Amino acid sequence: MFTGYLQFKPKLFDAEYNINAVNSLIGNNHQKCDLLVMPELANSGYLFSSAQEAFDASEKIPDGKFCTNLFNLAEKYNTNIVSGINERAGDKLYNSAVLVTPAGDCFVYRKTHLFLEEKLWFTPGDTGLNVFEINGDFGKVKTGIMICFDWIFPEAARTLALKGAQVITHPSNLVLQYCQKAMFSRAVENRVYTITANRTGRETNSGKELFFTGSSVIVDPKGNYLSSAGESDELISVVEIDPSLALDKNVTTMNDIIKDRRTDLYNL
Ligand code: ACM
Repeated sequence: MFTGYLQFKPKLFDAEYNINAVNSLIGNNHQKCDLLVMPELANSGYLFSSAQEAFDASEKIPDGKFCTNLFNLAEKYNTNIVSGINERAGDKLYNSAVLVTPAGDCFVYRKTHLFLEEKLWFTPGDTGLNVFEINGDFGKVKTGIMICFDWIFPEAARTLALKGAQVITHPSNLVLQYCQKAMFSRAVENRVYTITANRTGRETNSGKELFFTGSSVIVDPKGNYLSSAGESDELISVVEIDPSLALDKNVTTMNDIIKDRRTDLYNL
């Protein structure tokens, strides 16, 4: 199975620009890719200064224009795509991610753990952490989604692993320095593949500034970094993985990291 990330610099408030940017990166990628992960809030950018700004930059799932383009891409390139979306649902906003399939299915995850000022505009996710099965000539693979700051709660990746995720997709807009290193632990402690698709670049708005750390990574169940992007690259990176390796939870002949859990002594 071929999996990858698309790292780019979304433009704040400019869905058209963001659609063209991902289309051109995908159009110029000639490698087969069965599962492609894009950054958090890829339709809208990140650094809002008010709830109204965040709302104006949001769209509905599945018929907003960024999402509609994802369906077209998934069908045209026969690829499953996970992308962050600033989602409007009635009068609420969610920091969401969609998984769209070549067959036109759409699954939604709404970010569980909001970071900093996200708490001012987004409603905390209500979907829970779920696993979705994708299929193709690579067979059937269970894929989980978490978004950016969810990484700092090991419970998020663990919940997905307990639900059978073989590949954890992780759309991100990272600003702290730790996550790319921490994904080693999320992968090893759960014996899963992780794909962190981070954004790059700087955003400024109303006197505020954020620098995003790029450096997207794919880690395998034994902690090998299969791909690492540069801090400011705009690119697609694709690697071949064997998702069946994520079904083997043995770290020694006598230690299965799922079965050895002492749930009589702790809850998760
Ligand atoms: C983050 O959760 N966007 C840092």
